[in-house]
Amino acid sequence: MSDPQPAHFPQRIFSGIQPSGGLTLGNYLGAIKRFVAAQEAGVETIYCLVDLHAITVWQDPAKLRHATRELAAGYLAAGIDPARSILFNQSQVPAHAELAWIFNCVARMGWLRRMTQFKDKAGKNAEEASVGLFAYPNLMAADILVYHATHVPVGEDQKQHLELARDIAIKFNHDYGVDFFPVVEPVIEGAATRGMSLRDGTKKMSKSDPSDQSRINLTDDADAIAAKIRKARTDPEPLPESVAGLDGRAEARNLVNIYAALADIAPDDVIAQYGGQGFGAFKPALAELAVEKLSPLNAEMRRLMQDPAEIDRLLGTGAVRAREIAQPILERTLEIMGMIRSV
Ligand code: AMP
Ligand code: TRP
Repeated sequence: MSDPQPAHFPQRIFSGIQPSGGLTLGNYLGAIKRFVAAQEAGVETIYCLVDLHAITVWQDPAKLRHATRELAAGYLAAGIDPARSILFNQSQVPAHAELAWIFNCVARMGWLRRMTQFKDKAGKNAEEASVGLFAYPNLMAADILVYHATHVPVGEDQKQHLELARDIAIKFNHDYGVDFFPVVEPVIEGAATRGMSLRDGTKKMSKSDPSDQSRINLTDDADAIAAKIRKARTDPEPLPESVAGLDGRAEARNLVNIYAALADIAPDDVIAQYGGQGFGAFKPALAELAVEKLSPLNAEMRRLMQDPAEIDRLLGTGAVRAREIAQPILERTLEIMGMIRSV
């Protein structure tokens, strides 16, 4: 987070997660844990449950409602403090969708066609994909820029989308001859910016993977966590004596990275401790650590989920604070573009 921004853009952190299913260990280590660290560092932090992004693919309404509350419970259980961070769901702040429309008119078709996530998600059936799925990165740029956020902590998979957000800010500023939108900095840091599937070390750990064995869910109990780690795919070799020895060993590297991220140490430190040992020793140690770190979180999520009205109330309060920042920035954007603002 050392890149200097022009003085008129004070450091402000924004990030979002889709309520499109349960939270995984990948989300936790690659995103939420780092959101909490930013909050603890005393920076202004705004965290969003991006429900408008979730509906770019079909969501059953009852499931969306549940997943949104569960995601909020995940943020809170992990340590997001609604008094210090702004926590809210996207659809309660209309400025996101309004600025996204404007960015639909700034971004170029060619830019969006290059997005690998669209290609992955739409697959061979691009003609059947929603227009929203294609325009998804413009809404993401709007999420960030409607707060003039300067830094965005995300996992590795979001890098290309953030480059697009930068391109949109630069083109808007250039086209209108202003220095209005900050050129955001992606913050992709830590040992687990790309947590991989437990069944295939070349695939991202994802809530949409059909195999539940491929991921650890934040709602998994201690037995499920331990069983999934025990069955995680590995190779027959012991852990190497140095991190370089993990090259070509995707599954081993993944487990080392997960250990490092959970323990807040570097992969080198994990290797210093476990190098030369087999998975018969390392997996139980990892399982114990994962259960120790995730069980309290899991219990707190369950407790919070018993009072959905309180979660809704917190999201409502967050949305009021978010609107106070976003609305004036949207108004100013429209003014810059020549729209009459008479009220
Ligand atoms: P999503 O669940 O796709 O909305 O992702 C929310 C956040 O979690 C984003 O910052 C992602 O980059 C991050 N994330 C998702 N999956 C992983 C993973 N397997 N490893 C690291 N970060 C991840
Ligand atoms: N596209 C992100 C993901 O799937 C979620 C997201 C939406 C986001 N808007 C954002 C992340 C703004 C960071 C900033 O992971």
